[in-house]
Amino acid sequence: MNTHRIAVLPGDGIGAEVMRAGQQVLERAGARHDISFDWTTYDWSCERYATDGAMMPPDGLDQLAEFDSIYLGAVGYPGVPDHVSLWGLLIPIRRRFQQYVNLRPIRLLRGVTSPIRGLGDDPDDRLDFVCVRENNEGEYSEVGGRMYRGTADELAVQESVFTRRGIDRVMRFAFDLALRRGGGVASATKSNGIIHTMPFWDQIFAEMAVSYPGVETSQYHIDALAALFVQDPRRFDVVVASNLFGDILTDLGAAVVGSIGIAPSANLNPERDHPSMFEPVHGSAPDIAGQGIANPIGQVWSGAMMLDHLGHETAAAEILAAIEAVLDAGIRTRDLGGTSTTVQVADAICDALGDGGA
Ligand code: NAI
Ligand code: MG
Repeated sequence: MNTHRIAVLPGDGIGAEVMRAGQQVLERAGARHDISFDWTTYDWSCERYATDGAMMPPDGLDQLAEFDSIYLGAVGYPGVPDHVSLWGLLIPIRRRFQQYVNLRPIRLLRGVTSPIRGLGDDPDDRLDFVCVRENNEGEYSEVGGRMYRGTADELAVQESVFTRRGIDRVMRFAFDLALRRGGGVASATKSNGIIHTMPFWDQIFAEMAVSYPGVETSQYHIDALAALFVQDPRRFDVVVASNLFGDILTDLGAAVVGSIGIAPSANLNPERDHPSMFEPVHGSAPDIAGQGIANPIGQVWSGAMMLDHLGHETAAAEILAAIEAVLDAGIRTRDLGGTSTTVQVADAICDALGDGGA
């Protein structure tokens, strides 16, 4: 029996609802392959912040360091500023554990209709690409400050931080991924308007391309790239983007393939020196929290990415196949036009997996 120690952070809102679904499906998929999970659940959340004044205890990161992986739902609660939940939990985890790749597949699953007319009409030519978002630096930086608060001279400065090491390693990951997938890499830039960091980004992209002569490259300004995500998303295979650009592009990508409720992500430390973290792209969705109607697929698919990272490719692929079978059968939550509940979708995915050994 292969046992993995997993830290579970359900978080706030629908986080806990979809987390139950994710664990249920992982348990079922694991049982078919002699994989078991040793879950340790933490209540680190905005709710905890409201009572204790911190998203996690002071030694929270040390506790997490002991695990094989971290499985996260979503954080965010009305009344707690969003920068508190992000900077009090997610960003410290991503940085301390050098999870510098945020991997976000954009795939039109069988049984899902894209809002883009005609996309998916040819079942043999499904939209399927991956966004590699830089996850440790870039525009999400603590460098800066505010002055002259409350006066007419009030000002705010926020510095972007792009390092050679940081750009280099995320681009290398993107090129290696393109090589494995047999596709090209497109870089998201804005080197016309942003004249220091983005030309640097472009330069390292060009340097990296020289070491991967077999990988076709292209680069687009982020505004044009956003339009292409809608007009011609099939041209992409791997898209590499800075922290902010990747964040925005992947919500758009999720919308193109049907719903933010489906989109998964992996915060990877590719060297495996530290635990990686797996979480859906969506947030805590306070507008639908507590109703039992959240789509659990983003959480479940993120769990499949975790299994894959832990070395269980077959079990991960089975989860994906089960998700598609369920969607194909028309069992879906409201965001996809269905009437099923979170629990019904999770149960259906488990049924599709079957319970015997593989
Ligand atoms: P959101 O992703 O929570 O919700 C956006 C819209 O999508 C809402 O209409 C929501 O109902 C819908 N939606 C999201 N996930 C869904 C699911 N699984 N099934 C069905 N519908 C779903 O983003 P929003 O509204 O911008 O943020 C809400 C809170 O979540 C904020 O506090 C924000 O800071 C936080 N947030 C947390 C993230 C994280 O934990 N990684 C990521 C994004 C936002
Ligand atoms: Mg986002």
